[in-house]
Amino acid sequence: MSKELIVSKIRNGTVIDHIPAGKALTVLRILGITGREGVMVAIVMNVDSKKLGRKDIVKIENRELTAKETDMIALIAPTATINIIRDFMVIEKRKVVVPSVVKGLLKCPNPTCVTRIEPIETVFETISTNPLILRCVYCGSELGLEEVETQLVSSIT
Ligand code: CTP
Ligand code: ZN
Repeated sequence: MSKELIVSKIRNGTVIDHIPAGKALTVLRILGITGREGVMVAIVMNVDSKKLGRKDIVKIENRELTAKETDMIALIAPTATINIIRDFMVIEKRKVVVPSVVKGLLKCPNPTCVTRIEPIETVFETISTNPLILRCVYCGSELGLEEVETQLVSSIT
């Protein structure tokens, strides 16, 4: 467990572990964390992982994630594990699950899609998780991982 020496354990909060290497900053941006909030955030990048080869870890003190945030993380980091920490102990560990339907979160790339013209909530079905492919139920347009990532990061102000 020598890698644990990089960053100490946290008292209360959330540890997002097993993030694909290189995606930690994207996860932080999706969560809207800029570093100016005053909460302790630790970012560990490109450390050895038995399961993934290399992985990133994000530790956020005093924060629990909403279901929507967990879904957004699942889309771009499907291997992630969310650990809830209370009093230094992992009291809950859950693997994120790529949602089978994504509602109201992403914009359809097709400018003539009904969701771009009428005030209708977008709905995408997940037709593949690896690689990620989402399909608009209204017009059939597809979104890949890169586009999803760009949209999720830029929808945060
Ligand atoms: N962790 C932490 N602070 C704590 C407890 C745990 O930062 N007070 C971190 C650990 O460093 C680890 C993650 O939370 O990155 C999960 O902890 P734990 O379940 O103890 O580790 P593993 O058993 O290695 O997890 P897994 O089986 O999910 O790989
Ligand atoms: Zn569409």
